[in-house]
Amino acid sequence: MARISASVYTSHVPAIGAAMDLGKTQEPYWQPVFAGYEPSRRWLAENRPDVIFLVYNDHATAFSLEVIPTFAIGTAAEYAVADEGWGPRPVPRVIGHPELASHIAQSVIQSDFDLTIVNRMDVDHGLTVPLSLMCGAQDPQTGAWPCPVIPFAVNVVQYPVPSGNRCFQLGRAIRRAVESYDQPLNVQIWGTGGMSHQLQGPRAGLINREWDNRFLDRLIADPQGLAQVPHIEYVREAGSEGIELVMWLIARGAMSDIDGSGRAPQVRHRFYHVPASNTAVGHLILENA
Ligand code: DHB
Ligand code: FE
Repeated sequence: MARISASVYTSHVPAIGAAMDLGKTQEPYWQPVFAGYEPSRRWLAENRPDVIFLVYNDHATAFSLEVIPTFAIGTAAEYAVADEGWGPRPVPRVIGHPELASHIAQSVIQSDFDLTIVNRMDVDHGLTVPLSLMCGAQDPQTGAWPCPVIPFAVNVVQYPVPSGNRCFQLGRAIRRAVESYDQPLNVQIWGTGGMSHQLQGPRAGLINREWDNRFLDRLIADPQGLAQVPHIEYVREAGSEGIELVMWLIARGAMSDIDGSGRAPQVRHRFYHVPASNTAVGHLILENA
């Protein structure tokens, strides 16, 4: 059977992708950000999954105000890298895993979660920046990401957005789905976006280090309690775009301690840094015990 071995959490700041693509990673502004991901790249090289289930949000790239799925699962064989206005990032296309994705869709929908099935979707910085941070630079023509990726898009852009608790419960259903797949695949689940940031209005530039670090503490040790945090607290404390953090609860809900079957996950890496563009960068790697 397939199993989820670990979860990875990381911000997706688009300027991080640009810094990599333009060769600026060693500049004083960016060097500390990338230094924080060096252990992660080593860890991923040593703990290479067969598939990454990557929870992210689309930024009006694949979807628009015409169609707004709350939860969308990519079931395609491959995904093109989106043109976000400055041209597509020079990174490899993303190879999917249609068989596992279809199985997860079947299982999760039959567990009463409403997913939109997407057979064609371009992926933006929400998905490619976490891959770049964790895997390092890849040549767009000759390079490749280390394994197939199942993109799972969550609407955190256009209201109404899903609650943290809904995301957490969905993560539990995703774990059951993965564990009922009849192939011995090692699956990692990644939760991305955040941490505190606000890009608009009078509070643009808002960062809340204290709240972010408490979020990291609770994600590790009190995920059920953290899942009860209401939407308004994210917006008030972490800024309007801080709501991206509910996606981390999907990955956390998929860890094996949640349903009482396993021990607390091991923290393999924790990193927090301000500033990166307008965003606080947060990052965590949790391995199932
Ligand atoms: C920034 C952060 C985001 O999450 C995003 O989607 C776009 C921009 C930023 O920090 O600039
Ligand atoms: Fe974003």
